[in-house]
Amino acid sequence: MEKLVIEGGLPLQGTIRVSGSKNAALPILMACLLPEGEVRLGNVPRLRDIHTSLRLLNILGCETTFDGNDVTVNVRDLKTEAPYDLVKTMRASVLCLGPLLALKGEAKVSLPGGCAIGARPVDLHLKALEQMGAVFELTSGYIFGRCDKLRGAHITFDFPTVGGTENLLMAASIAEGETILENAAREPEVQDLANFLNAMGAKISGQGTSVIRVQGVPALRGADYRVMPDRIEAGTYLAAAAITGGEVLLEDCPCTELDAVLAKFRNMGVELEEQKGGLLVRRHGPLKGVDVTTQPFPGFPTDMQAQIMACLCLAEGGGVIEEKIFENRFMHVLELVRLGADIRLKGRSAMIRGVKSLVGAPVMASDLRASASLVVAGLAAEGRTDVLRIYHLDRGYEDIEAKLGGVGARVWREEE
Ligand code: EPZ
Repeated sequence: MEKLVIEGGLPLQGTIRVSGSKNAALPILMACLLPEGEVRLGNVPRLRDIHTSLRLLNILGCETTFDGNDVTVNVRDLKTEAPYDLVKTMRASVLCLGPLLALKGEAKVSLPGGCAIGARPVDLHLKALEQMGAVFELTSGYIFGRCDKLRGAHITFDFPTVGGTENLLMAASIAEGETILENAAREPEVQDLANFLNAMGAKISGQGTSVIRVQGVPALRGADYRVMPDRIEAGTYLAAAAITGGEVLLEDCPCTELDAVLAKFRNMGVELEEQKGGLLVRRHGPLKGVDVTTQPFPGFPTDMQAQIMACLCLAEGGGVIEEKIFENRFMHVLELVRLGADIRLKGRSAMIRGVKSLVGAPVMASDLRASASLVVAGLAAEGRTDVLRIYHLDRGYEDIEAKLGGVGARVWREEE
């Protein structure tokens, strides 16, 4: 296995280009099952999860190409089974359920299983699809779904589930009649999926609000589409510039989708200047402590919780972070403590006391954003930090060494 080695203490200076969004590209790739005709996607990030999704599309009978950041998908001979050995590596594979049921009236998808950050069931997906006429059986770790024809329904989610909203948008786009999704997820990535579906001829309105309406159409057609920039990758590099006290221009930064994050970092004393299509991040004074509670969009995103925690470790007064989306998303805390952070956990809250400095040490990545948090902390820590099990990071950050190296960080990859 590989590790990322970081010589910390250098303020980042320069420009980082934000890649396409992983969490928009993944559902959009599953939506490529739906149309008759070729789909051409641009700005697709070169990440492990994207390669895994393309492999799943191949298993489901699609021809795909991935050249640079461009992807093409052609559905050839659609299959309906997503195998365990692939789904276990990426939960988002469950997003093929909606399209397969809508197209073929059947689907056999491995239950995604838990992951480091919590149980992450899919009960809300299944309950909503049952309202559209699907019947499910859960046996030997698989979800067996079948239906004659999905019919539009008036669905209210118990929780604004991102994946659940995405599965239902894809299923409803070619179901019979109108579907109304209430308490739908408002995340920008959900909006990007809805916009992509509309580019293929779907009739969706209300995306970005809690009530989304879908008029089913008989079929979707191929289209060209450019994936939105990755707001969480952008937020991660914002945190890296803030913690090192540097000056970094984030090119193609989706600022409007980062309001809650920008507000928090401004409260911490970070200067943020929106420029055409980019965001200039500067920090010269001390980092000031803030409190954070993660919420569904447009609240502070759970995917930025670990990264802002790394910054709070060095902020005057520290802060309290409440994680309200996932039940176990503090795996990075003990690793940050190994770097000298002062953090106490109490249920789903973390109390951070600011310390003067962090000191490099070997630390273990456990999930995608926990790894990002350890990299952010390592960039500010004195001396050398080795972040082990860096494959977690490769799931969500394209060319991370090149991007950080390009702004002056001393970071390289080594065999563990
Ligand atoms: C998406 O996961 C993202 N993944 C996650 O990003 C992100 O953290 C999450 O949304 C919340 O914003 C992708 O888009 C691929 P949810 P998803 O359904 O769809 C519970 C990253 O780091 N729940 O909104 O799985 C669930 O257990 C990843 O890029 C149910 O109980 O999120 C969780 O506690 C991590 N039953 C909460 O809701 C269900 O049927 C949020 O889940 C569905 C969800």
